[in-house]
Amino acid sequence: MSKLKIFIAGHKGMVGSALVRFLQNKNIEIVTKDRRELDLTDQINVNNFFKNNKIDQVYLAAAKVGGIHANNTYPAEFIYENLMIQTNLIHSSYLVGVKKLLFLGSSCIYPKNANQPVKENELLSGKLEPTNEPYAVAKIAGIKMCESYNRQYSLSHGIDYRSIMPTNLYGPGDNYHPENSHVIPGLIYRFHDAKVNNLESVTLWGTGTPRREFLYVDDMARASIYLMNIDKKIYDEETSLMCSHVNVGSGKELTIKELAETIKEIVGFKGNINFDQSKPDGISRKFLDSKRINNIGFNYLTSLKDGLIKTYQNYIKN
Ligand SMILES: NC(=O)c1ccc[n+]([C@@H]2O[C@H](COP(=O)([O-])OP(=O)(O)OC[C@H]3O[C@@H](n4cnc5c(N)ncnc54)[C@H](OP(=O)(O)O)[C@@H]3O)[C@@H](O)[C@H]2O)c1
Repeated sequence: MSKLKIFIAGHKGMVGSALVRFLQNKNIEIVTKDRRELDLTDQINVNNFFKNNKIDQVYLAAAKVGGIHANNTYPAEFIYENLMIQTNLIHSSYLVGVKKLLFLGSSCIYPKNANQPVKENELLSGKLEPTNEPYAVAKIAGIKMCESYNRQYSLSHGIDYRSIMPTNLYGPGDNYHPENSHVIPGLIYRFHDAKVNNLESVTLWGTGTPRREFLYVDDMARASIYLMNIDKKIYDEETSLMCSHVNVGSGKELTIKELAETIKEIVGFKGNINFDQSKPDGISRKFLDSKRINNIGFNYLTSLKDGLIKTYQNYIKN
C-alpha cells in the first residue's frame, strides 16, 4: 500500500512541529517546505508545488501569528499574509484534487462580547476585538472558504475541508520574543530573566484579573489529527454546512494572576509580582465551549502544570 502523503504547512512553527512529531513513524510520507523554499504567500509557486507533489492531506498550520503588540503594530501584514497563505493553500489544494485539508484558526474569531463559554455558533454574531480584528477577519475568511468549497465541491470533487479553532496554545517551540510573544512565553521569559538577574520584582501589565484558558501544543496536535481523520458522518452530525468549525480547549480557565504565580513557582523566581493597573487588560474572559470536539470523541490529556513544566524545561534547554 502506498504511503499517505501529508503536507504540513508551517512545520517549523509551534503547532506544525508538534504535528510532525505526532505524524512521523506512521505509514505516512510527511512533506515540508520552509519559507525560503516555498513562500506560501506566492500564488504561482504554491500552485506549482501542488501540481508537482501528489499530496493527499494538508494541515494548514502556517500563519502570521503574534500577541496584542504585534497585531497592533503590523495590522496590514496580519491581514495580507494570512489571507494569502490560506487562500493559496485552499484553492491550490482544490485545483489539484486534494480532498482533505484542516484549517487552523483561533479563538480570536469570536465577537468581543460573545456569550461565555463561547460556542461555535457565536461566530459573526457581533463586533470583534479591535486589536486583532485584521487577523480575526482573515481567519474567519479561512473558515468560510473551507465551508464554501465543501458546499460547492463536496459532491462533484469529494472535497472535505475542516476547521479547528484552538484556545490559547503553549508549549515547546513557542515564540519568546520580549514584545511579540503570547502570555505564557512572555511570562516564562520575564520570570526566568528576573531569576537569573536576581531582580526583586516583576511588573506585569493590567490587573491580573482577566481569565484565560490554555491548551498544551501536543494536545492541539492530537486534536488536529483526530479531527482530520474522524469519519465524515460523525463530523457532519456535530457541525452544519455553514457552521462547520470546531473549538478545542482544555475546559479549564484561570486568572492571569494565578497563571503568573504558577509560572513564578515553576521557574523558581523568589521575588514579588506587581501589576501595573494603568496598562490595559485585554478581553476580561475568553473561554471556549469544547463540547463539539468532546462529542466527536476528543479530550485533552496534559494538565496546565505538567505542560508548563515541560515548556520551561524546553525553554532552558534551548
Ligand atoms: N500559538 C497560539 O497560541 C495559537 C492559538 C490559537 C491558534 N493558533 C493557530 O495555530 C496555527 C499555528 O500557530 P503557531 O503558534 O504554530 O505559529 P508559529 O509558531 O508562528 O508558526 C507559524 C509557521 O508558519 C510559517 N509561515 C508563516 N508565514 C509563512 C510564509 N509566508 N511562507 C511559509 N511559511 C510561513 C512560519 O515560518 P517561519 O518559521 O519561517 O516564520 C512558521 O513556521 C496558526 O494558524 C495560528 O493562528 C495559534
